[in-house]
Amino acid sequence: MKKIIMDCDPGHDDALAMMLAIANPELDLLAVTTSAGNQTPEKTLNNAMRLLTLMHHQEIPVAGGNRTPLMKPLETAGNVHGKSGLDGAELPDPDFKVQDLTAIELIAKTLRESVDPVTLVVTGPMTNVALFLRVYPELKSKIERIVFMGGAMGLGNWTPSVEFNIYVDPEAAKIVLNAGIPLTMAPLNVTHKAQILKPEIAAVGDIDNPVAHAFKGLLDFFEVYHENPKWGFKGAPLHDPCTIAWLIHPEMFKSELMNVDVETQGELVRGETVCDYYELTGKPKNTEVLLDIDRPAFIQLIMDSLRTFG
Ligand code: RIB
Ligand code: CA
Repeated sequence: MKKIIMDCDPGHDDALAMMLAIANPELDLLAVTTSAGNQTPEKTLNNAMRLLTLMHHQEIPVAGGNRTPLMKPLETAGNVHGKSGLDGAELPDPDFKVQDLTAIELIAKTLRESVDPVTLVVTGPMTNVALFLRVYPELKSKIERIVFMGGAMGLGNWTPSVEFNIYVDPEAAKIVLNAGIPLTMAPLNVTHKAQILKPEIAAVGDIDNPVAHAFKGLLDFFEVYHENPKWGFKGAPLHDPCTIAWLIHPEMFKSELMNVDVETQGELVRGETVCDYYELTGKPKNTEVLLDIDRPAFIQLIMDSLRTFG
């Protein structure tokens, strides 16, 4: 089993990523920390607790993280994820306590207690991970890899060339991408191919267990924002689950190794991930960038995983 910590901003697609991590025995989810991004820090923390209550995994420790990005004021995405951050489903109130630790303290505790190195899965803005690396540099060697959803090689989804997670905290992303830790990046280039289509969402509704019922409602809500014809989508892009799917089934993806860095100064491009696909900079190839996905196999993994909550 690969030991992982999820740092997330649930968030509909974060919720699906968490479900995949819990449902698949290849992964051991040691802890969950939450970041502010899709919604406020209070809401993303409460959402993580609600999801673990729904999936009956209250044993997994949870701690809340950043109040704001490192430099920018916080911008959230209620227009995508709704007022709660997980609109569309009736989720249970948390029935367990949050850890009396900050996110970076829980990450540090988890790494110290793990004999083996741990993979960090980051599906929101990278503020917590950047702060962790600055406060606990001695624990960097306990991180096996950082697998993150964020960035784009080309078109963005929040400003013309910038993806939301990196947009929210570009300075944090720059710290993480230049930390010298092995990286796997799931940019919009692959996540926009990881769409779930209407008939497949309907098929989630045919899975008869409370977790699948909740995710049917979440997917119905999440799909609405992505119906806007400007996107050219046939369904809803499932961004964050690509990170977990890659950890479980890397063969489901096509990827290229390249240098990726982040622009933090540009008036028009602050938060852009600059992906050196043609090796023009001579900078180290620090990131495995996922560029294509076997979409049917990805959807099958989601359906099979939802069925395990019988
Ligand atoms: O741009 C998509 C990313 O931003 C996803 O992680 C989504 O959950 C939001 O955080
Ligand atoms: Ca997210």
